[in-house]
Amino acid sequence: MLTASAPGKVILCGEHAVVYGKPAIALPLANIRATATIEHMPTGSGLIIAAPDIGERWQVSKQSGHALAILAKQTLDQLGSKQMPDALITLRSAIPVASGLGSGAALGAALVRALSQHLGTPLDPAQVSRLVYESERVFHGTPSGIDNTVVSYEQAIWFVRGQPSNDGVQLPTIEPLVIGRQFALVIGDTGVRAPTHVPVGRVRQQWQRNPQQYDTYFAEIGQIANEVRHALAEGDIVRLGTLLNQNQELLQLLGVSSPQLEQLITAARAAGCWGAKLSGGGDGGIMLAVVDDAKQEAVARAVLDAGATRVFTTTIN
Ligand code: PMV
Repeated sequence: MLTASAPGKVILCGEHAVVYGKPAIALPLANIRATATIEHMPTGSGLIIAAPDIGERWQVSKQSGHALAILAKQTLDQLGSKQMPDALITLRSAIPVASGLGSGAALGAALVRALSQHLGTPLDPAQVSRLVYESERVFHGTPSGIDNTVVSYEQAIWFVRGQPSNDGVQLPTIEPLVIGRQFALVIGDTGVRAPTHVPVGRVRQQWQRNPQQYDTYFAEIGQIANEVRHALAEGDIVRLGTLLNQNQELLQLLGVSSPQLEQLITAARAAGCWGAKLSGGGDGGIMLAVVDDAKQEAVARAVLDAGATRVFTTTIN
């Protein structure tokens, strides 16, 4: 028996604009993970994927349309494996689904890692990331690729998506980030499940109706990401907070915030965080606040009191 895992993630800044070629910054959440355990099964069993937490079980050869079955098959293709192994992959996750914490990508990355290790050919982060990206496309249509990248590389990243070109899709720009000073994040879950493709599709329609206005919003969000990168490198947490607040104003203008998100963000600011914003697709899902270690507990408490269904805290260094 063998277990592989992958972390959850948060987008620190740049969501939505990243779909339109602007930079975004994402951080792995090392302490909130998805795991895939793989074990041998009797000959003839085929490859089975089980997700006991949601009571699901798929026979890969039969459920060919399921995203995880497709991912398992593509992994086998990548490994040049002609035969379906007789094995059971059990998936578990501590990452809440459809909330902006990258649960789908983390489950996918854990599955690819477990399967490739089981077959004796562990894949590198770039290969894991590419496979997970392909399966994310089944769900999201036009994902930027940031989720699969951060969970596969498992480090803070600067990300710019590859622009489609005539000779195929270009590779994204992925750069590790320098974090000049440790800081803490309080992440609050609104409890409102919001599939990413809904706000992404709405923003696209609005952009098509009013490209000039939306291109301006995206450019401003991209500029903020540039400044956030500098603030992180310099360890300037106060500046980081201000920039995240500015990013939130632009996300409001894009129409992807929600009353629940605003409530949690307002509470975090009142409790003394340096800055707060929604994270991920929006419409629900999660918000994050940058805090000093000393304020971590007070901000987490305030976010819970304001209606968060759960709160995670994590240290970025
Ligand atoms: O909701 P999440 O965490 O999957 O993030 C979506 C981020 C977007 O920029 C809105 C979409 C994307 O594909 O990057």
